[in-house]
Amino acid sequence: MSDDLQPASSRHLAATPGPAPALDIVILAAGESTRMQSQTPKVLHSLAGRPLIDYSLRLAEALSPNPPVVVVGRNAEALMAQIGPRARYVHQEQRLGTGHAVLQARATLQGLSQTVLVFYADMPLITRESMQALLALHVHNQARGGVLTMLTFTGDNPRGFGRIVRSAAGDVLAIVEEADCTPEQLKIVELNPGLYCYDADWLWRSLDEIRLSPKGEYYLTDLVAIAVNQGRPVSAHQVGDAREMMGINTRVHLAEAEAALRERINRRWMEAGVTMIDPAATYIDDTVEIGRDTLLLPGVHLHGQSRIGEECCIGPDASVIDTVIGRGCRVQRSVLEGSVLEDHVDVGPFAHLRQGAYLATGVHMGNFGEVKNARLGPGVKMGHFSYIGDAAIGQDVNISAGVITCNFDGVRKNQTIVGDHAFIGSDTMLVAPVTVGAGARTGAGSVVTHDVPSGRLAVGVPARLRPDHEPEGS
Ligand code: UD1
Ligand code: CA
Repeated sequence: MSDDLQPASSRHLAATPGPAPALDIVILAAGESTRMQSQTPKVLHSLAGRPLIDYSLRLAEALSPNPPVVVVGRNAEALMAQIGPRARYVHQEQRLGTGHAVLQARATLQGLSQTVLVFYADMPLITRESMQALLALHVHNQARGGVLTMLTFTGDNPRGFGRIVRSAAGDVLAIVEEADCTPEQLKIVELNPGLYCYDADWLWRSLDEIRLSPKGEYYLTDLVAIAVNQGRPVSAHQVGDAREMMGINTRVHLAEAEAALRERINRRWMEAGVTMIDPAATYIDDTVEIGRDTLLLPGVHLHGQSRIGEECCIGPDASVIDTVIGRGCRVQRSVLEGSVLEDHVDVGPFAHLRQGAYLATGVHMGNFGEVKNARLGPGVKMGHFSYIGDAAIGQDVNISAGVITCNFDGVRKNQTIVGDHAFIGSDTMLVAPVTVGAGARTGAGSVVTHDVPSGRLAVGVPARLRPDHEPEGS
């Protein structure tokens, strides 16, 4: 449970009359997900950088401090390995329907909270706002004796959804599964997305009243008619944006959800001051953060735990993965992974920063450079065709075209150290382990196998110190 999400739910509950009722959440995830055609359980497929189930978990965490109860099936091991202690787990051994799935949570939750929310693990686009509207409506429904409140939506394509049957007064009378609908009921456009809020005692009692359907399943949806028959009114809040109710059953749905989520994420960043030339061609994981007045050009992919500062220009065509970028940086047609850029760093086109690259303020790294596990000090210039790996490069060092740190001797990775203001000539091979002192220089094409003292010049193959280039003052 992340504490920073707590205030939102406290605020919501504080706004409702009476003491805040404790809330437990049940997430159904025991589906077989055969239509994904995958070895991976459906809810572990990635959507905008997070596994599908993560969206349900985060939603649950925003609504209640109690860890949600996830109903797992054959996918149990993979799911539990991925989610860990964020959730409590119950197993549904046999897939006997949604009512049966919720029943599996009874032993864990009975007698605890006053309110239980149930939703599916494969609906990543539901917003916190819609769930809070559901909880608020439930409080009103309870005040008139209601025990069950739900969300509905109106969709263009009702196929596969239960239809909502309402009374003339607007109360929900029943959910009818598509297979059981009369021709008249099939025309109903108000649909059941499968998100419900229950009075807990009533839920745990009433699950036993669900009868086996002709299909051989216990339908959770039957609880609506059961409540109505007891004279308990059922209220429903209609969610305006049908896209929130998108459920993922196939990879086509996954791509559709990704597009919808991308639009939502991009809108959020544009509203926060980020410019995008073409939002449809800008791919930002849900996990990324971006500063104001940053410009994202088409073909930018921002992934994982990346953080981009203010007033940067990224793209066109750049992949930024788990990388922290400071203020006023420029990244053009490059790939940055597990790296850090301080402020006003300029990278690309066609640069590759790998794990552990650290570019200090004002570094210029031009085309066809690669940096791995190395620190480039402030103001380093590395304009063309270079590889710097396992190295510490001082301040204002010039790395000319074609410089290579020969960091691997076939057995070990070795370190290269270059002091401040050194000048590494074109095509220098720095055969590590090796140190080039502050203010030292290497000649074009030199192969440096021994340390070069500060202020000296080394040239040739293998490189030798030039006697006529003693340090100043010596
Ligand atoms: C269900 C609803 C339907 C609604 C639709 C929305 C019922 C009877 N019907 O139908 O009104 O419009 O969802 O998508 O509830 N699950 C389990 N164990 C089971 C069966 C299902 O965990 O034994 C989980 C699945 O992982 C899935 C969810 O419950 O995520 C829904 O199950 P599914 O069989 O897809 O229900 P639908 O027939 O789509
Ligand atoms: Ca379904």
